[in-house]
Amino acid sequence: MEATLQSLLADRFGETVARADAPLTPMLARILARRTQRNYTADPVPDGLLDLLLFSALSASSKSDFQQASVIKLKDAGKRARIAAHFPTMPWIANAPAFLVFCGDARRLERISTLRGHPQENRGIDAFLNASVDAALVLQTFILAAESVGLGCCPISVVRNHMTTIAAELALPDGVFPVAGLCLGYPSGKGHISMRLPPATTIHTDTYDDSGLAQQIDAYDRRRDARHAMTREQQRNPALFGYAEFYGWSEDKARQAAQPEGASFAEYVKGHGFSFV
Ligand SMILES: Cc1cc2nc3c(=O)[nH]c(=O)nc-3n(C[C@H](O)[C@H](O)[C@H](O)COP(=O)(O)O)c2cc1C
Repeated sequence: MEATLQSLLADRFGETVARADAPLTPMLARILARRTQRNYTADPVPDGLLDLLLFSALSASSKSDFQQASVIKLKDAGKRARIAAHFPTMPWIANAPAFLVFCGDARRLERISTLRGHPQENRGIDAFLNASVDAALVLQTFILAAESVGLGCCPISVVRNHMTTIAAELALPDGVFPVAGLCLGYPSGKGHISMRLPPATTIHTDTYDDSGLAQQIDAYDRRRDARHAMTREQQRNPALFGYAEFYGWSEDKARQAAQPEGASFAEYVKGHGFSFV
């Protein structure tokens, strides 16, 4: 059965949202139905196609036209295996037909400034954010481009938890840091749509207003649970938090956030060029 705007919105948000009064283009339909894919067939991604997707991705907007993203194609099987060895619970990192690393690159602008005879540092918090945003825009544009030709993707931020290995394997200089890796291949299954928070929570008009948050999140937890209930075994860290009678998305995310994983990455970037002032 062909998807309608109504069915796409219901799949994405799990509730009836106000209908947008505009025609549903093929591109909008694809974006509304998009999903991360972690399982792939063995079919390789042709080099020419990979490059076309990268050229398309690099067409993303860029802060001040500084163009502070760099992408590393990881072709060396040994390097990939050494990186993937850190993540046995995510076998898609080792198994995906192609793997890329999307980097924020504050170094290139510094080098260009020196080449033009105006040497200066590009290592403050603004520089870090600008380079991160550029890399993220290129990453997401790549994902949408790849999905448009039937490929599936999974971004991989956990690479930032093992910067010693990543920096050594990719020969990353100071000022260049991974925003995320990306697994790429032809999906072996359909995957599933991950339900989003209700637009009432994430879209505000004129002023920010989260006064209805508690109620909205409770209802969202129930909707998600009705579609994909998490099992007792999936409850995060019961030794610390115990078992919840009802274990919804918000309990899962609050438990996840209570054990932040980014400390080693913060140390790495502070020690590799960024002053954050
Ligand atoms: C920056 C970023 C990093 C991510 N890192 C990982 C990761 O390390 N491992 C993984 O399996 N999925 C990762 N994901 C995928 C998210 O889990 C996924 O996008 C999210 O659950 C929403 O699902 P959807 O993309 O299908 O809508 C990442 C996504 C983003 C945007």
